[in-house]
Amino acid sequence: MIKPNMHYAELKDAYLFYNIAQKTKRYLEEHPGQRLLRLGIGDVSLPLCPAVIKALHEAVEDQSQQERFHGYMPEPGAPFLRHDVAEYYRKRNIDITDDEVFISSGASDELGDILDLFDSNGSSLIMEPAYPAYVDANVIEGRRIIHVPSSRENSFIPMPDEPADLIYLCSPNNPTGAVFTKEQLKVWVDFANEHDSVILFDAAYEAFIEDPSLPRSIFEIDGARTCAIEICSLSKTAGFTGTRLGYTIIPTQLERYDMSLHDMWIRNRTTKTNGISYILQKGGAAVFSEEGQRQIQENLHVYKNNAKVIMKALDEADIWYTGGKNAPYIWMECPNNMDSWTFFDTLLNEIQVVGTPGSGFGSCGEKYFRFSSFGNPEDTQEAATRLATLLKRL
Ligand code: MLT
Repeated sequence: MIKPNMHYAELKDAYLFYNIAQKTKRYLEEHPGQRLLRLGIGDVSLPLCPAVIKALHEAVEDQSQQERFHGYMPEPGAPFLRHDVAEYYRKRNIDITDDEVFISSGASDELGDILDLFDSNGSSLIMEPAYPAYVDANVIEGRRIIHVPSSRENSFIPMPDEPADLIYLCSPNNPTGAVFTKEQLKVWVDFANEHDSVILFDAAYEAFIEDPSLPRSIFEIDGARTCAIEICSLSKTAGFTGTRLGYTIIPTQLERYDMSLHDMWIRNRTTKTNGISYILQKGGAAVFSEEGQRQIQENLHVYKNNAKVIMKALDEADIWYTGGKNAPYIWMECPNNMDSWTFFDTLLNEIQVVGTPGSGFGSCGEKYFRFSSFGNPEDTQEAATRLATLLKRL
């Protein structure tokens, strides 16, 4: 009998956001007509910006014309988009060449797929609380996971201790909103170089950083080109959660055991994909145009304002939280030492607000709760008003 990948049996019953979706669906079935205010999953609520929509329409039109039609795209990405992404870095004085950019269908897909580059007997260090897909993807591969908990005491930024083959870093962090300083990131880069580890740097939320002293890319740090891969996405930056587009940076110098991880990824992509659609890549290129950059800032401004609205409600109720500044997530301590699923149920049942229980991001997330600022502004305002009232009463 064929043996399936038995590591699936080690996964939790259901993925965190699927669980939440099921619970809210059940609530709506039992309470038809209730208006739920969704501040749970980090899914954007504003439409794609006009520059992107125009580019997508034009690309569809290209596909209808014999002379402008495109078939398969190059597997690592269309040269025009690889160039635009590399320029996005070079404008910030980060030295990335066009061929170090790989276009992907988004960060979550890539964070799982990239494990193909590494021996599955290796170890992965995951600082927690963490985006649950890191853990699940590593469990599926049968990799040894080193869980590194963080807490309010270290501002949810742990420092290296035990060496590991792979190191996951996410800054601005999902779920805590904590952002590494350059000095803190440098410690991790030096540690990775010293132990021949590779850092997988999840930069999905880089566009939320406003403080110019904070690094938006790991490649702002000396030494990162010999130890890091950066995975980014247009989901949160430009509203592509449903459209799907991202990019990965693998420096040409990144080698282990005399193997170039950059060349291995070309080999992987050419084998396992047929490239990302021409239409999407044209839409993505519009994000990096002058007009696109201005328009995405307008949307980001709305989400940043949502974060302020939620923070104000928590301030009024004197609740401890972090994040919300330079990050789209607000990470709060549950009131009265409540556990995080109980607080989830309380919010759902009493004020019809959906958030994300902290324990879904690892056991050290217990007693915490995450709000996303990606909801629509009216719902966010209403949720904050209800939340402030509830918290005063609890
Ligand atoms: C989240 O809510 O943590 C994110 O939406 C997850 C994701 O980007 O897949």
